[in-house]
Amino acid sequence: MKVLVTDPISDAGLARLRDAGYEVVTDYDVDTEGVIEQIEDVNGLLVRGTEITREVFEAAPNLQIVSRAGIGVDNIDIPAATDHGVIVANAPRGNVRAAAELTIGLAFTVASQVPQAHQRLIEGEWAKDDITRSELGGMTVGIVGLGRLGQEVGWRFDNLGLDVVAYDPYLGEDRADQMDVELLELDELLETVDLLSVQARLTEETRGLIGEAEIERFEGDFVIHTSRGGIIDEPALAEAVESGRIKGAGVDVYSEEPPADDHPFMDVENIITTPHLGAKTRNAQVNVAVTAADQVVNALNGELVKNA
Ligand code: MLT
Repeated sequence: MKVLVTDPISDAGLARLRDAGYEVVTDYDVDTEGVIEQIEDVNGLLVRGTEITREVFEAAPNLQIVSRAGIGVDNIDIPAATDHGVIVANAPRGNVRAAAELTIGLAFTVASQVPQAHQRLIEGEWAKDDITRSELGGMTVGIVGLGRLGQEVGWRFDNLGLDVVAYDPYLGEDRADQMDVELLELDELLETVDLLSVQARLTEETRGLIGEAEIERFEGDFVIHTSRGGIIDEPALAEAVESGRIKGAGVDVYSEEPPADDHPFMDVENIITTPHLGAKTRNAQVNVAVTAADQVVNALNGELVKNA
């Protein structure tokens, strides 16, 4: 059996595949075309960011599974996989804590203006009289998308003294009650909360969910986005922060990655950006690599592949 790994993953995941006796080919510079060129005799494909399109499945008569070392599978054409009888699997848990911690970290960073204060200080300016930080405790945070990441984020905000409300059309009232989170319609949430924290997955329903009109409707101070680019209208958010209507934003994910040099966020002082680091802790990288590799092993051994 041959497994192709198209993005860097932790050695622990590669070891899992080699221990199972597979031929493991790593090609970390490959793009979709390159995958198509070498997919014919591949049985398992392990990816992170590489786009796996319908053309890949068409060229892959022996492929049994595409496994992603991460949560989102938006880079994999799932209907095409289904048409070709290929399993799509992910690693749904291993990086959730890392992403939740970055979300909370960005919220404090943005509200406290640490990067701006640091920059001014190293440039020789003592800006003490000019900077007034905001306290998160006592604010209301509105979480968009109360899945696994949204729940981890909500629990942390709750324990930090914020009131937590959420928009998630797929979550039942019972589960929200158990979590002590009030579910609101999106418009009401936007008009009510101080901090908007976007944790939804990117799907056809969530693409563009926080558009120009929603940014306009948002009456709070801060926006944090750490799940997937494409959900928030980036020019509209940049404009709202630049004008001072929204005090600040913390963003880890972009509609195109890496974002272009002239991306609208890049010139706005109060938008703090990071390069999709949500899952980039050592623990999380080991966790997701091992889970994704185990999914491949299970599929190629004819055992159950579970995404839950
Ligand atoms: C994920 O989907 O789990 C994260 O965005 C991780 C990543 O792609 O680096």
